[in-house]
Formats: sequence, structure tokens, C-alpha cells
Amino acid sequence: MYTKVKGTYDLLPNDARKYSYIEDFLKDTASLFGYEEIRVPILATSDLIHRSTGESSDIVTKETYDFKDRGDRIITLRPEGTAPVIRSIIENKLYATNALPLKLFYMGEMFRYERPQKGRFREFRQFGVEVVGTSSPYMDAEVILLATTIFKDLNINNFKVRLNTLGDDESRNNYRNALKEYFSDKLDSLCEDCKKRFEKNPLRILDCKVDKDSEILLNAPKVSDYLSQKSKDDFEIVKSYLDELDVPYVVDEKLVRGLDYYTNTIFEFELLDSESGQSGTICAGGRYDNLTSDLDGPKLGSIGFAFGLERLISIVNFDFDLTHSINCQFIPIGENAKKNLLKVMQYLRTMGFISEMNYEATSLKGHFKSADSNKARYLIIQGDDELERGVVKVKDKLNNTEEEVDIKDLNNLLDYLMDLENKYLDDISEGE
Ligand code: HAM
Repeated sequence: MYTKVKGTYDLLPNDARKYSYIEDFLKDTASLFGYEEIRVPILATSDLIHRSTGESSDIVTKETYDFKDRGDRIITLRPEGTAPVIRSIIENKLYATNALPLKLFYMGEMFRYERPQKGRFREFRQFGVEVVGTSSPYMDAEVILLATTIFKDLNINNFKVRLNTLGDDESRNNYRNALKEYFSDKLDSLCEDCKKRFEKNPLRILDCKVDKDSEILLNAPKVSDYLSQKSKDDFEIVKSYLDELDVPYVVDEKLVRGLDYYTNTIFEFELLDSESGQSGTICAGGRYDNLTSDLDGPKLGSIGFAFGLERLISIVNFDFDLTHSINCQFIPIGENAKKNLLKVMQYLRTMGFISEMNYEATSLKGHFKSADSNKARYLIIQGDDELERGVVKVKDKLNNTEEEVDIKDLNNLLDYLMDLENKYLDDISEGE
């Protein structure tokens, strides 16, 4: 038996329905904030991924899916969306032809060779946004507000935002030097990965899962002591906007993020699971003011975030019905009626009614069984007699009624069904 590749999963119809629902909701919410969709290829040049996410990042050191194509190009399956989106903006010169800032969202598959576990896959889906062409700290807060709005509107409230700033270039250089000096005589006590991080990006030592509780890390210099006045002022604006909007956050000076492109504001949304007492990251992002110029474009202040759809969907409470309620089962008795009903069925589909027929059924019992499994509300039945008189029998399973409807003019059938639908909607709103 063939099996799926380790770290991937199938989306069977019940789950695919949830994904579609959430994807529509995300598009609508991003649009309310003025974002437009961008779609970029899954295949990227390895150079782009290495240069953007950084040689010291876990993604580049151990997680990329790299291969040579038949033309000897070195290709990487995109592990995240930011670099490919920025590449597209630069290659298509969107910054020159559109008003800034560009506000873009994307959704799609990402690939990382990680150890599969709960909420962690090798092929997974991200929703992300990127705002390119503004350095305003108000935008930092608005981007965090968008993620907060998404979670709150989905009734997810048990999260907090961990917030930090890495400062501008000057602050980061000073801080980097301070860390180098501090760690230089303590390397022997650090893990092997941290020894490498010391060379490539000492900030990432602070993020180490192995050494995280060691005295050395606890006593390391703090970024807040190295921030320029501008970086401090900007961070204050971000925090005050979030306070104003009641976004729950905590400043966490240990937060550094695992990708090398970040500058200034960075954040992670942490989900608190009250049952297990455990927490996990559901969304992450930050400002990356140097990435466009690092990728040979103009310097454009930028910020964004992304989250895994799998993690999000696993915590949404789907206690509402995602199946469509307007549903007709066509039941022909005999070949002539079958032929005739095909046209009627196609007409109702164009009018927005989900319409189906069981072509294999040889008895009424078989048709009724299909109607049940399709959760059809309306049964539209025709035999030779009805065909001759130009009518169908319409059985409404919800109200338990049955009537003959003249279909010489198909609009009659549509009007009849619409009346029943409207009555149903009126009853619901009265009930509320
Ligand atoms: P990231 O922290 O690498 O950031 O990933 C963001 C989110 O993607 C994570 O918080 C998690 O929800 C989800 N995720 C990551 N890896 C996996 C996996 N193996 N399986 C399932 N979900 C996963 C970025 O990707 C940045 N591009 C975010 C960003 C956008 N920063 C600025 N703009």
C-alpha cells in the first residue's frame, strides 16, 4: 500500500471544508484592513532562501528541501512566505507602480524538514501578511492588531502577545558587539549549536532551547540597554497603541526570533492551553527593514507575520454547521423523466441550488437513501404521469410538506423553492 510522505497529511472532505471556511474568513478580514492577495511560486532559488532567512537560521541549517532540477538549477521548496513575496515585489517593481505601503496577504503550502509532531508538519500551510514601504511604528501595532482581530473573531481568546524590539541597525550592532564580548570567554559552557551561532549571529544564542535556563544566558546583556533613542521611542509608540486597543501583550526581552532578517519590533502569539498548562506559538512576525535592500531592491521599511493554518484550525471551535442547507435531490421514475430532470437540475444549479441525482438507483428506496446521505432538504420527484402534465412533486423534508409544482415555466419552481427558503430564514430570525 502506498502511504503519504512522512510529515504530510491528507485533507479529507470534512477537514477541507473547515480549511475553506477559515481561508474565506482570513481573506475577508485581511481585506477589511486594506490587504490584497499575492500568490508566488512554491519553487524558489536556494540563493534567495539562504540569503534572506540567514545562514545561521534553523531553516537553512537543517530544514530546507533543496534539490537540483534537470537544468542543474539549485531549487528550494519555499519554507516561508516573506522572502518569496519580497523577491516578487522587487522583481515586478511593485514599489514603483503602486502606492506605498504595499499591503499584501498570502496563503499556501510551505515546506520544512522538521521532526513531525503535534501542529508541526513537513508540508504545512501558512497565512501571512507583509506590509512593505513604511517605517511607521503605528503600522507595527496595526499588524499586531490584525492578527489579534483574526484570533478574537474566531473566538480564540487564550493567547498573549510576546513583544520585543531588536532595535535599528545601530542598536543591533552595539548589542551584537556586547553579546560577542560577553559570550567570548564562556563558549566552552555553551552547546554545539550556540558555538556556531556565536560566529554567525550571537543574538540567536538567547533563543537556545538547550541552554535557556543557564546562568550564562540569564545574565547576558539585555537589548533594552543598547537601544538608540529612536528605537526606544518607536517601541513606546507600538506599546501605547496596543494599550489603547486592549491587545494583551507582555514585553519579553528574551524573544529574538529564529530568522535572521528581523529588525526593531518582533512578536509571537502564544497560545495558553489551560488544560495541559502548556503553551505554543501560533503566530509570529516582526519588522525587517533591511530585507528589501539585502535582496538588491530599494530600502523599504517592512513588517509582517505568518501563522500555520493547521495550528489555527486545530483550536477553532467548529460547533456550527458548515454544510450548505439549500440542497435538492432529483428523483426520476423511469428513463424519460430522468432525461427531463437533467435539464431542470442544471437550471436550479445555475440559480445557486445544490442539486444532485443518483444515476444508479433502480428503486425509490435507493433514491431516498441518497437524499438522506446528501442531507437534501428538497426531493424533486417526477414519473411518466408528472412528465406528461409538465409538473414535479416537491417534498420539503424540513416542513414535511409535499406539493405539485408546474414546471412548464421553470421560474415557477424557482419561485416556489425561494418562498420556502425565505420562510425558513424568517422563522430563524423570529426565533432569535
Ligand atoms: P516562523 O516563525 O518561521 O515565521 O513561522 C510562522 C508560523 O508558521 C509559526 O508560528 C507556526 O504557526 C507556523 N509554522 C512554522 N513551521 C511550521 C511547521 N513545520 N508546521 C506547522 N506550522 C508551522 C515565518 O515564517 C515568517 N515568514 C513570519 C513573518 C512574516 N515575519 C514577517 N513576515
